[in-house]
Amino acid sequence: MKIEENVSLRSYNTFGIDVQAKRFVSVRTEDELVSVLRNHVGSKFIISGGSNMVLTRNLDCLVIHINIKGISTQFSPKPGHIRITAKAGENWHEFVLYCITNGYGGLENLSLIPGCVGSSPIQNIGAYGVEIKDTFVKCAAINIDTGERRVFSAGECQFGYRDSIFKHKVKGQYIITEVTYELSTDNHQYNTSYGAIESQLRLTGRIDSPDLQSISDAVIAIRQSKLPDPKILGNSGSFFKNPIVPKIIYEKLQQQFPTMPHYPVSPTEVKVPAGWLIEQSGLKGKRFGEVGVHEKQALVLVNYGKGTGQDIANLARKIQQMVKDKFEIELEIEVNIIENC
Ligand code: EPU
Repeated sequence: MKIEENVSLRSYNTFGIDVQAKRFVSVRTEDELVSVLRNHVGSKFIISGGSNMVLTRNLDCLVIHINIKGISTQFSPKPGHIRITAKAGENWHEFVLYCITNGYGGLENLSLIPGCVGSSPIQNIGAYGVEIKDTFVKCAAINIDTGERRVFSAGECQFGYRDSIFKHKVKGQYIITEVTYELSTDNHQYNTSYGAIESQLRLTGRIDSPDLQSISDAVIAIRQSKLPDPKILGNSGSFFKNPIVPKIIYEKLQQQFPTMPHYPVSPTEVKVPAGWLIEQSGLKGKRFGEVGVHEKQALVLVNYGKGTGQDIANLARKIQQMVKDKFEIELEIEVNIIENC
């Protein structure tokens, strides 16, 4: 474990933003992490997959890269299930593929999501009708200040839509080191009700006989058709949350915009897709210098190569303003805008 100085973080964040870490260390075990935390005073910044952040300036502190790997299985008290624990630094998509290859069901709809296992509970990652809270059992985390280990149960995580306790009460206090999921080993409950999955399975002739692999393949095909590959075009997936608005406001808007897609979330609230709002504001596919709004999915902001975190943050503000002016809806940023350590 070596502490390096003035390290570019470009390859450590999926936006590909070129800022520098004053000091940088990559830890490969929980013990290494605890030792770094206990032996280095001063502020620290944690990075793993770097898929949910916009780095707006050089980080004048110690950046700790979580590179802890490993996957193990345990007995599950739930019949037809197994528990599987992945260390925080495992690449999420490779972990999902490992589960599919071994016949473990529950994560297939979450194929091809960028990032690492350790961040999956923070924002309760979700796609195509599935969220990690559906299979999550527990996670282990290290307290940044004390180096002490704590286990968080599913209930303690307080999961919500792209939300958990790690974004609120204990924000910035813990580093997740491993996550345990409970996955099915037989009688898999496939979730193919999401429109795009259904049509993709129909296209490949697997609609009547879906399995873990064909669902994963369908999700991969859908994502690849809309979402840019961060290795080719810097991005961090959905940049904003889909706003949830009171039903009365939605009904007013619907009179003005009858084609507005919407999903009921409760008897009094409706979720509307931010991608649609941004597209209707005339921003889809628009480029502003080195950054822009993706041409196939307006919810995704992209870095054409030399964009800075400030460029992305400015564009985000512009989008928020334009959507507010047209629809009177406030878009909430889903990714973390990093302004200091
Ligand atoms: N839409 C537009 N224009 C656009 C984009 C979307 O009109 O440019 C419309 C679509 O036609 C559709 C609706 O908006 O009617 C929803 O679009 P889509 O199915 O692409 O999903 P989304 O709501 O934009 C959410 C998640 C994605 C996830 C997909 C699929 C959030 C913030 N985003 O996007 O998650 O993959 O559903 O489940 O909830 C991520 O978090 O990084 C992410 C990619």
